[in-house]
Amino acid sequence: MSASVPIVRTVADLRAQVGEWHAAGQTVGLIPTMGALHAGHLSLVAAALSHYDRAIATLFVNPKQFNDPADYANYPRTEESDAAKLAEADAHLLYCPYPAEMYPDGFSTNVTVSGVSAGLCGGARAGHFDGVATVCSKLFLQSGADGAFFGEKDYQQLKVVQRFAADLDIPITIHPCATVRDPDGLALSSRNQHLSPEQRAIAPALYRAMTAAAADIAGGRDRDQALEAAKTAILAAGYNRIDYLEARRETDLNIEFSSGEPARIFAAAFLGETRLIDNTPIG
Ligand code: PAJ
Repeated sequence: MSASVPIVRTVADLRAQVGEWHAAGQTVGLIPTMGALHAGHLSLVAAALSHYDRAIATLFVNPKQFNDPADYANYPRTEESDAAKLAEADAHLLYCPYPAEMYPDGFSTNVTVSGVSAGLCGGARAGHFDGVATVCSKLFLQSGADGAFFGEKDYQQLKVVQRFAADLDIPITIHPCATVRDPDGLALSSRNQHLSPEQRAIAPALYRAMTAAAADIAGGRDRDQALEAAKTAILAAGYNRIDYLEARRETDLNIEFSSGEPARIFAAAFLGETRLIDNTPIG
């Protein structure tokens, strides 16, 4: 355990440190985040340390992936406590770039991934995955890391990242990591802190209904019927609105798939003002 994690804020300083490690024959894993770190993020740091000699977390609240300026303005910014948690988790470096370092005047490039970006969170949040793909491609190229770690909690984001990294021949290995949950099943998320105690008690109904539907579909129940039953259960538990609840093939997120193919149920639903997302495998 170290007392503090060193912080760099420029591409030049990041590259100098990674260059030093690579010159010494050490490998480097990257953990992109927007901060407000919780145990889900820290599980990615632990995974990085189990695969690579060095773990670099990044903290950048990326304006390009928010479609609502108020949402961007209100996103929690807790750099000091995040740095302390990263030190506790034995991360070696925190890259915390200035917005102008990421998007200097004249910045005009967008990374757009088709196919896996369509529908689900890509349908509800226009431009969101362009923002994610653009910032992640910059983080990969700025750092020159050997591997990068992403949570299955944001499964569509993981597919988008795998797609552009392969399509653009970026020499980095993408490591998917299992979703970390509270004991009652609720997936950890920085948004959970917005839930009132009453809402927090209702929140696990989303995952509960999704896993029940997944088991039903795996057991041979009609897909649409199982998904409808899940929606009914989620609303009956006290959720206000369901953004989407769909089954999709794992490989390419196609909505058409046959029963033998790996697939997942994906959902986004509102509990009060808070939008929660989750996904779970079928079978
Ligand atoms: P953020 O929401 O901070 O998440 C950073 C990483 O932590 C993502 O890979 C996300 O999937 C993972 N994560 C979040 N909750 C998790 C949980 N409960 N279990 C496991 N992993 C979890 O996702 C983003 O930031 C941004 O879009 C980013 C990729 C950093 C680009 O700006």
